[in-house]
Amino acid sequence: MSDRRDFLRKTALFGLSGLAGSLIGKEKLDAVESASDFLVNDGNSFVLPKLPYAYDALEPYIDKQTMEIHHTKHHQAYIDKLNGAPANSINFSVDDITKCESVDATTTALIRNNLGGYFNHSLFWTLLKPNPKGEANNPGVALAEAINRDFKSIDDFKKEFSEKATKIFGSGWCWLILDTTNKLRIVTSPNQDNPYMKVMADRGKVVLALDVWEHAYYLKYQNKRADYISNWWNIVNWEKAAQLFSGK
Ligand SMILES: [Fe+2]
Repeated sequence: MSDRRDFLRKTALFGLSGLAGSLIGKEKLDAVESASDFLVNDGNSFVLPKLPYAYDALEPYIDKQTMEIHHTKHHQAYIDKLNGAPANSINFSVDDITKCESVDATTTALIRNNLGGYFNHSLFWTLLKPNPKGEANNPGVALAEAINRDFKSIDDFKKEFSEKATKIFGSGWCWLILDTTNKLRIVTSPNQDNPYMKVMADRGKVVLALDVWEHAYYLKYQNKRADYISNWWNIVNWEKAAQLFSGK
């Protein structure tokens, strides 16, 4: 198994270095490496990260039951599948997400679906923040300047992001990324793909993430995905987004 693991590691590193050389410079490579913060294992298995707020803290925008099920059942399920895999998945890293292919189709699917699902949710929780008083919630100066540069205005950005997220067919994610030309762009992905993955046509460093799988909103919003998205803007953690944007 260790030989296989070594092969996986080498192929993942090759993919990452190739990516760095062809598309993403040193600065971006560091950003990808910092994304490893969202994959945590205790030496024996991957672990479910604690939420930085209570399950009911995002009320009234996301309800307590949805948050609890989303975290303890859906997020946990990706982890269980990783930990139950025979391919020594404990050694998977964000490098494997980046390369998103392996020695066999089963392991590739495990990376794409379950390592992706684990990573995406761990990242998503940090990009949410309670706002019980319904206060105005907008990006800070540096990120706002970049959004204004690339989308004309914050309102135009929010409108485009909301429209793209609403129109995702089936299950997926909507992302704000800093692409390889240092331009902010809104991209979407199916299932648990994300913009670090080589399988994505539009790639870059994640600044903002929105889960639009039905499990993220259906209990409260039923088929009204647009309402979920509209309310989500109230609980975006712009401080975290700014940190991801600046790489600090
Ligand atoms: Fe989800």
